[in-house]
Amino acid sequence: MQVFAILPAAGLGTRMAGPQPKQFVALGGIPILIHSLRAFAAVPRITAIYVAVRRTEVERVQGQVTEHGFAGRVHVVEGGDSRQESVANALAAVPAAPDDIVLVHDAVRPLIDTATIERTIDAVAEHGAAIVGLPAVDTIKQVERTAHGALITSTIPREFVVLAQTPQGFRYGLLQEAFAEAIKDGFVGTDEASVVERSGAPVAVVPGSQVNLKITQPGDMELAEFYLRQRSR
Ligand code: C5P
Repeated sequence: MQVFAILPAAGLGTRMAGPQPKQFVALGGIPILIHSLRAFAAVPRITAIYVAVRRTEVERVQGQVTEHGFAGRVHVVEGGDSRQESVANALAAVPAAPDDIVLVHDAVRPLIDTATIERTIDAVAEHGAAIVGLPAVDTIKQVERTAHGALITSTIPREFVVLAQTPQGFRYGLLQEAFAEAIKDGFVGTDEASVVERSGAPVAVVPGSQVNLKITQPGDMELAEFYLRQRSR
């Protein structure tokens, strides 16, 4: 059984309001994408990593991959207009057998640790599908959007809620079938699990952590720099 990783990195990062997409911004002097790649490259069980970037970035990222010593193990492919399309493009390039495992990880979660990646692989081997999820500490409200904001419609007991992080891992055959079904139905999800859940397949949850944050908004960089400094102590 082989394990492959896909890192979608073709987003424009519009919420960050910076001059370049967040995955290319330097964290502790190294691009965020390279931190994420390092974490996966540090797991010996992972055969190859596929990074999906915008067409205009392919050459530049290829250069960074070589510069940081990942050439041969990391392949750069073209992404798409949605995260799901970027993952689908990378999935088409992965030379996996149906029983092999594919992990998908947001390029903008640079602080993922090897132990969590390992635990996700083990959970996929056992259950067929598993994602990293963070137990909710806040009380979760379901709302109805209004012109002035939102109105609460119900409270979802937090013991029934986890916040979905990545990596999200699946048997290749299961993921490929779920993606084909989603394309046929015109379904677009914000993560891979939502695509797979539609098929009724069970998806296990591996405990995540707040350190595995998704760099999305201004302010997240400072927090990530803090966690990075803590880690290197
Ligand atoms: O936009 P979102 O926060 O969901 O982005 C999560 C990850 O998906 C990021 O690493 C981003 O670069 C990637 N993405 C992508 N292709 C897109 C949009 C987002 O690879 N078209």
